[in-house]
This record gives sequence, C-alpha cells and structure tokens, in this order.
Amino acid sequence: MPFNTELTRRLGIKVPVVQGGMQWVGYAELASAVSNAGGLGILTALTQPSPDALRAEIRKCKTLTSSPFAVNLTLLPALQPPDYPAYARAILDEGIRIVETAGNSPGPVIRQLKAAGCVILHKCTTIRHAQSAVKLGVDFLSIDGFECAGHVGESDITNFILLSRARQTLGVPFIASGGFADGQGLAAALSLGAEGINMGTRFMCTVEAPIHVKIKEAIVEAQETDTELVLRRWRNTSRLFSNKVAKEAVKVERESTSGKFEDVAPLVSGKRGREVFLNGDKDFGVWTAGQVIGLIHDIPTCEELIRRIESEAIETLSKASSLIIQDGQQSTGRDGIVGENVNNPEAELWGVGKSKL
Ligand SMILES: Cc1cc2nc3c(=O)[nH]c(=O)nc-3n(C[C@H](O)[C@H](O)[C@H](O)COP(=O)(O)O)c2cc1C
Repeated sequence: MPFNTELTRRLGIKVPVVQGGMQWVGYAELASAVSNAGGLGILTALTQPSPDALRAEIRKCKTLTSSPFAVNLTLLPALQPPDYPAYARAILDEGIRIVETAGNSPGPVIRQLKAAGCVILHKCTTIRHAQSAVKLGVDFLSIDGFECAGHVGESDITNFILLSRARQTLGVPFIASGGFADGQGLAAALSLGAEGINMGTRFMCTVEAPIHVKIKEAIVEAQETDTELVLRRWRNTSRLFSNKVAKEAVKVERESTSGKFEDVAPLVSGKRGREVFLNGDKDFGVWTAGQVIGLIHDIPTCEELIRRIESEAIETLSKASSLIIQDGQQSTGRDGIVGENVNNPEAELWGVGKSKL
C-alpha cells in the first residue's frame, strides 16, 4: 500500500524509506534494488574513483531500475579533497535530480545542484547545522541521531530529542536517520514529525548489498552494544563496528601522550576497511556500523525488507489509533477484555528510589 508523505510525493517513491549513502557499499546493485522495492536507493559518489566512473555507475543503475534513485555526495575534510564540482557535474549531466549531501561546508556544491533544479536531502547531526542548510535552500533535512553509523558529530544527541527539536524548529520537512531497521521505527519517526526514514546499516545486511556475506553475518550476530566511538579527541567522531582494530584504536586514542592523529591513523585506515567488505574478515580493519546492529537478525532481499517495514508500519499506526477511545466508551485490554484496575504488588515491592540496576 503506497504511503503519502511529503517525501513520497516530492521524490515520486512509494514507501518513505531511503537507503543512505554508504562508502564502498552504495553501488548500483543495492541502490537499484531499494528503488525497485519502492524506496529511494542512493549511489555513493566517492565510492567511485573518478567523476567518469560515477557516470558509468549511474548509467548502470539506470539499466537496473526505472524508478527514481539518488546520488550521495559527502564533503569531508581532506588534505587533497576530491574534485567535488566535477562529481556534481557528472551527477547533473547524467540526469540525476535527487542528491543526498553530507559533510563540511556544503554551500558551494548545494548551490551548484540547486541551480540545476535538484531536490537536496542534506544530512546533519545537529539542529544548528540543519538551520544553516535550510538557509542554503535544501529541500529535506536528514537528521542523523547519535545512534547512527559513521560520523555522529560531537554533541551526542539521540533521535528522541533531535527529531522533536527538528519538528519544533526547522520549518522544512525532515527524515529520521540513525537507529532504524523496521516498520515500528518508521511509525515512530512519522509520529515524531518526520516524513520518512533513512537507513544505512540495515541495508548493508541485505542480499543485494555488495559486501562479503561474513560481514552481514557478523552484523546479525552483534548486539546494540557492539560499536565503538573513535576520533573524538580530534572532533571527528565516528561510530564503528566493535572489532579488534577498533578497540585498539580506542585504546591508542585514550593513551597517546603525544595527542597526534598519526598515532591512530594506521588503525583507522579506510583502505583496510574497504578490504573487510571484500575479504569477509571482520577484524581486518575498521568499518562503519550503527547501534541498530542490535535490531538486525536476518539477511533479507531489499524487496522483502521494504514489504516487511511497510506492513509493520501500517499495523503499528493502526494499533496506535485504536488506543484512542471515545468519551464514555469502556476501555479494553490487548485481548479485547474489559480491564480492571488491579493493584500491582510488584510496583509496591520496588518502591521509590530503587536503582534501575
Ligand atoms: C558502511 C557505511 C558507510 C557509510 N558511508 C557514508 C558516506 O560515505 N556518506 C554519508 O553521508 N553517510 C555514510 N554513512 C551513513 C549512512 O548514510 C546513514 O546516515 C547511517 O548509516 C544511518 O544510521 P544507521 O546505520 O543506524 O541506519 C555510512 C554508513 C555505513 C553503515
């Protein structure tokens, strides 16, 4: 059953579920599978070694789906930054008109893309950054809570607060990102005022994600506690899957007396992280994953996953509306039986001030 939110209307998609840009994961196979299932698939521009390679990937994706898909352009601080305007030109020349932007100083790129009529979904982790992006004219904010995979920002605000702050202050439609894996999550996000959800880690763990199956199995086995935050000391905090290398990086970061990034750099190398996805050795290097790994228990196709999210969200929203009763109507329990106000002896046992632990 198609949804009707600002996101589905503006993007021409059926289900308000976006697959966020993912370095070394966001290839045409995954993006097209998400779009074919009615969500929005996203190619990751910088996963391609050059703007020309990105053109080829966009063309490949077009052969795999006739539904809308987008491209992510992430602007990260680098000594030798990629040629962002050339990547943006490739996106535009290939006819893409939905772009997910993320990262630092996105102004020039957003202006270039907006001038060509693109719909921009800009991802950020704070309301302050969201407000700056609103001034640049972005169409949607993708609000990435502290639960999320990858760059979590430095203010550590989880989605329960962040999404409501977005609703209260932004005045621009937004989607909820970080910590989503199911239809209950989608229903919650819609209830908090979002127009849809963005998922990264959950889509890594699908049949079509072009990474080694052993990494998907590691995600299925993991708990929500199995992530590490690294690079806080340099105010570039990233949430990573907790493995031997990530734990070592945390230790070095904590214990380094020099405070030099060079001490930890070999451990957090992106090259070794990329190898993990190819060789299936989860301990070969660091790789990105969100706390949502604790909610992921299988490896479905994108079609199966999105159908499931759709039906769970519909069921959850209908159940929620059945919780409201007319004045004078008798309340019933979950089983439909009229309830009594029974004193709960457990409640008395726990008493006030008892520790949650
Ligand atoms: C493996 C991986 C790589 C990612 N790479 C990028 C990236 O290059 N650019 C970006 O904007 N976000 C990136 N992200 C973040 C996702 O787009 C998304 O915001 C995030 O995963 C949401 O949190 P979740 O994993 O809890 O769903 C990445 C996430 C993962 C899991």
